[in-house]
Amino acid sequence: MGTAEVRPIEWTEDLKIGIPIIDADHKVLVSLLNQVFETVGDREEKATLGSVLNSLVDYTEYHFAREERLQEVAGYGGLAGHKALHRDLTAQVVAIRTRFEQDPESVHGEEVLNFLRSWLVDHINGHDMAYRGACVGNEVAIKAATGVAFDHAEGDDYEDDGAPLVDWARVKVLVVEDNRNFQIIIQTILKSLGVRDITMAGNGEEGLAALAAAVPDLVLCDWRMEAMDGIEFVSQARAGGSQAKIIMMSGYSDDDVRDRAVAAGVDDFLEKPITARGFLDAATSALSR
Ligand SMILES: [Fe+2]
Ligand SMILES: [Fe+2]
Repeated sequence: MGTAEVRPIEWTEDLKIGIPIIDADHKVLVSLLNQVFETVGDREEKATLGSVLNSLVDYTEYHFAREERLQEVAGYGGLAGHKALHRDLTAQVVAIRTRFEQDPESVHGEEVLNFLRSWLVDHINGHDMAYRGACVGNEVAIKAATGVAFDHAEGDDYEDDGAPLVDWARVKVLVVEDNRNFQIIIQTILKSLGVRDITMAGNGEEGLAALAAAVPDLVLCDWRMEAMDGIEFVSQARAGGSQAKIIMMSGYSDDDVRDRAVAAGVDDFLEKPITARGFLDAATSALSR
């Protein structure tokens, strides 16, 4: 397999900026980075590692926008330089994703993995620490930065009163997925949104049992699973009266596959590798219908 020996990044107190929303973002980014190392060599690597890299790009873009808003409102003198660094870091992670899409083997190298390992951590330790003095405790700037949230882009997902369309803290989610790495990726995205109630089912049988035990608002389910596949799971869930919004994720994407999923009763369909942004859009629109 040729997987490089790379240690996971440990979240430590010295990575703390001292602004809870920023520290929470950094933790999500660190866990996505760690998933890069976990998913190298996965049996469905294109779907898992591809989804992690996509999500890393999405979340990086969002986090940088939030951090720049924070610095802007706080009047931080280093804003222009910090923005330039962010642009550079974004271009680097986008380049790695592109490289993976063109030649998956190319991201297995120790060099790439070590690069990614320090890619963000060095930025937090160096340049993010530099804006602390200007921003920690600045409630106005922190409030403005809080308004830049991952679940809405430039305010367009906002209702009139400025509240997000979905109150993620109250959404119950069931994930029916047999790939352990994919379970963790989905969990990271859900947690980053503030979802607290997440149930994991490793196959269709467990999924049906979970549906009977609690009533989820949203079900994310894989298509290809051992024994009972996703289509069968959805058909049985609907036959059993489940009203949950169901999003199916699959490595296949032709129209026939989509049509079969819709006929079985799914609300939306996502092609693997997923993107965090694509997942968010699908979940938001399913839940607000
Ligand atoms: Fe930064
Ligand atoms: Fe940051």
